[in-house]
Amino acid sequence: MNHPRPYDVVLYGASGFTGQQTVEYFAKNVDGEKVRWAIAGRNPDKLAQVKQALAIPVDILVADSRDQGGLEAIAAQTQVILNTAGPFALHGDAVVDACVRKQTHYADITGETPWVKSLIQRYHAQAETEGTRIIPCCGFDSVPSDLGTYLLVRFMQEHLGVSCRQVKAYFQAAGGLNGGTLASAVNLARSGQASQLADPFLLNPPNSVSPAVRANSADPQWPQYDRSLGAWTAPFFMGPVNTRVVRRSCALYEQWQASYGSDFTYQEYLKFAGPGAAGAAIAITLGTGLFAFALSQPWAWSLLQSRLPQPGSGPSNQVMDDGWFSCQLIGWSEDGQSAQCWLHNQGDPGNRSTVKFLCESALCLVQETEKLPQRGGILTPATGLGDVLVGRLRQAGVTIELTRYRRGE
Ligand SMILES: NC(=O)c1ccc[n+]([C@@H]2O[C@H](COP(=O)([O-])OP(=O)(O)OC[C@H]3O[C@@H](n4cnc5c(N)ncnc54)[C@H](OP(=O)(O)O)[C@@H]3O)[C@@H](O)[C@H]2O)c1
Repeated sequence: MNHPRPYDVVLYGASGFTGQQTVEYFAKNVDGEKVRWAIAGRNPDKLAQVKQALAIPVDILVADSRDQGGLEAIAAQTQVILNTAGPFALHGDAVVDACVRKQTHYADITGETPWVKSLIQRYHAQAETEGTRIIPCCGFDSVPSDLGTYLLVRFMQEHLGVSCRQVKAYFQAAGGLNGGTLASAVNLARSGQASQLADPFLLNPPNSVSPAVRANSADPQWPQYDRSLGAWTAPFFMGPVNTRVVRRSCALYEQWQASYGSDFTYQEYLKFAGPGAAGAAIAITLGTGLFAFALSQPWAWSLLQSRLPQPGSGPSNQVMDDGWFSCQLIGWSEDGQSAQCWLHNQGDPGNRSTVKFLCESALCLVQETEKLPQRGGILTPATGLGDVLVGRLRQAGVTIELTRYRRGE
């Protein structure tokens, strides 16, 4: 194997709450003889503490997120940058810029779609021409939605011989909340870009949406009983992120002559089963609305803020170990045939699953480059990593099952 650069992966933001978990994941799961990795960030003392706590023989690279020259020097030394330094709209620009300039592949865990849109506008054309894979949204947002849809659509094409017309994803989850995630949400709410979140096709290439698809893609607003599922649903608060990513994947595959299906639509929901399901769906919908209101009003946020986790902190190990998520995606063809994809992982979605998804994404970019779709650009997990990430996640303990679907399953 040719090693023109001294590192395979640099973990940038390694001193943060999720960043430290990426370092632990690499320390535990990656053979340092095969993958040469280093940790990086802005604060050498904190990075030294991370290194010492895990007793790992890795190099430390230092550059602030505003230090363009320092970041370019890091990008020039590695095949891949794995980035957890957020809010990404505040700290991600120069990192991605350095990666595009130095043709260094990139993966992160942002859910800040207006920032991703700005990356598409600035860098997609150059990264596509040069074959550099820049892959945001490799965390809980939006790997299950995006990979699950990709797999389900291909399963229906290959095993049922039909084209998929519609996928709906239903999430159930338990876990905690990071201060860094809240900081990103607050920054977005105050950025003047929050209105962009309402655009169902924010991340689509121009002229990639038919009138029929547009008419069926408004975000769900209310709880409802879903007859095809036999359960109550509510709008999923991550839906306005994940649906945009899935729709970008669909549009890019259409451009690459590997269509998901004509007039394909995607939506996602929270699912509630058992006694009290209707009440829980209503309570979550109201709670989400109140939280969004509080985020947008500085006076309301100042009342809440001190009771919530601060940047650099997050759930306890117990909460992170006990958490879990399940995502049931159901696909329908025009003639009424259906199939489903189940994804499940033990561990807090925003930490344990996110860290697994991100680290395995970066490892795809290093160890299995020749098996990946041979395309660069501002990509999605499904278009940049596809089946290779599916295989790695299965090996890493994520349950991913595809079957025909019967109502109520
Ligand atoms: N997709 C998902 O499911 C998911 C899940 C969890 C988190 N996230 C996102 O991931 C991001 C990080 O979350 P977190 O909980 O790990 O946050 P965090 O603990 O606050 O970590 C933030 C990181 O950014 C670094 N940073 C801050 N300012 C910087 C600067 N000027 N230059 C360089 N680095 C700087 C911090 O460095 P210091 O340590 O030196 O302060 C730290 O390493 C957030 O945007 C969050 O929304 C996404």
